[in-house]
This record gives sequence, C-alpha cells and structure tokens, in this order.
Amino acid sequence: MRYASVIAVVAALALSVPAASSTGSQAALVARGRYLVAFGACNDCHTPGWREADGNVPVSKWMTGSTIGFRGPWGTVYPANVRERFFQISESQWLAMVRTRAGHPPMTWEDLRALSIDDRRAIYAFIRSLGKDGPPSLPSVPPEREPTTPYITIVAPAPPTR
Ligand code: HEC
Repeated sequence: MRYASVIAVVAALALSVPAASSTGSQAALVARGRYLVAFGACNDCHTPGWREADGNVPVSKWMTGSTIGFRGPWGTVYPANVRERFFQISESQWLAMVRTRAGHPPMTWEDLRALSIDDRRAIYAFIRSLGKDGPPSLPSVPPEREPTTPYITIVAPAPPTR
C-alpha cells in the first residue's frame, strides 16, 4: 500500500514536468534575468542616473547605456545600450561574447563567466523582453584623444589583451 502511494506520487511528478508550458518557463527565465541584472551591478554602469537616483530608475529605462566614459590605457569606452545591442545579436552571439571577451576594464566579463549557461541566457531573455529604447551606444575614443563627455579615469594597469 505504501509503495503504491509512492509510485503514485512519482508518477504525478513525472506528469507535471511536461505540463509546464513554454510561456511559463520563458517567464521564469525573464524573472531570473531581472534578478541577476539587478544584483550583477549591470545598472551601475549601463543605466543612466542609477547611482544618483539610488536605484530608483523605472525598469523601462534599465540598460539603455551611458555617456559617462571609462578611460584607461585602452582609451575611453562607454557602457553600451544593451537594449539596442540585444536586438542586433542573437542569444548564441551573446553567449560567445561572454566566453571570449576579455581585455580592458570595466565591463565585468570575468564575473559573467562565473554564471551557469542558463543564467547567462536569463540575462539575455530579460533585457530583450524590455524592448528597444535609448540612444545608440557611444563609440570608444582612442587613448591619445581627449573625450568630449565626462569620464571616470581608471588608473590600475590593464590586464593583457586577449
Ligand atoms: C563597471 C561598469 C560595468 C558593469 C558593472 C557592467 N558593464 Fe557592461 N559594459 C561596460 C562598458 C564600459 C562596456 C563597453 C566596453 C566593452 O564592451 O568592454 C560594456 C559593454 C557591454 C555589452 C556590449 C558588448 C558589445 O560589444 O556589444 C554588453 C552586452 C554588456 N556590457 C552587458 C552587461 C551586463 C549584462 C552587465 C551585468 C552583468 C554589465 N554589462 C555590467 C561597463 C559595465
């Protein structure tokens, strides 16, 4: 009798897996991505006014890029408008980027590589789900040129470029 009820529970669990709809799992992926983006400091750099507003920026404005550069021996780079970028590249291009990009700070590629592939996919799914918004990303400025925007200077030596 006891075995029969255990089997019944196992059978019920097995049945419940395929019952999860693909919309449901997509919603879970997006929710996970939002959590990871919020905690992953992405907004600190990629969302205008994030720090100044103590994080009180509506989610509709998250990840739209910044005009405050990061200047170091590599030149000056700007946090990209990821909302736009993720409509130009596929999920697999994003995954490849995380695997292969390195070089100059401050983008946290090395931290992203600590995440599982599913978590990396979740970040893409969430940011894509927000739709396109914000101005195009600013191009980087070569080291010898003075940027015309405000910038933060990074004095630590750059790691070797790969
Ligand atoms: C300390 C600042 C900083 C943080 C934190 C940060 N980024 Fe970035 N990010 C940058 C800068 C600057 C660039 C442009 C230079 C580069 O690509 O390395 C960039 C570039 C990018 C790009 C564009 C790459 C390309 O070439 O198209 C993506 C996508 C991106 N970041 C996503 C994220 C995500 C997701 C997070 C959070 C997990 C994050 N960033 C956290 C500063 C940051």
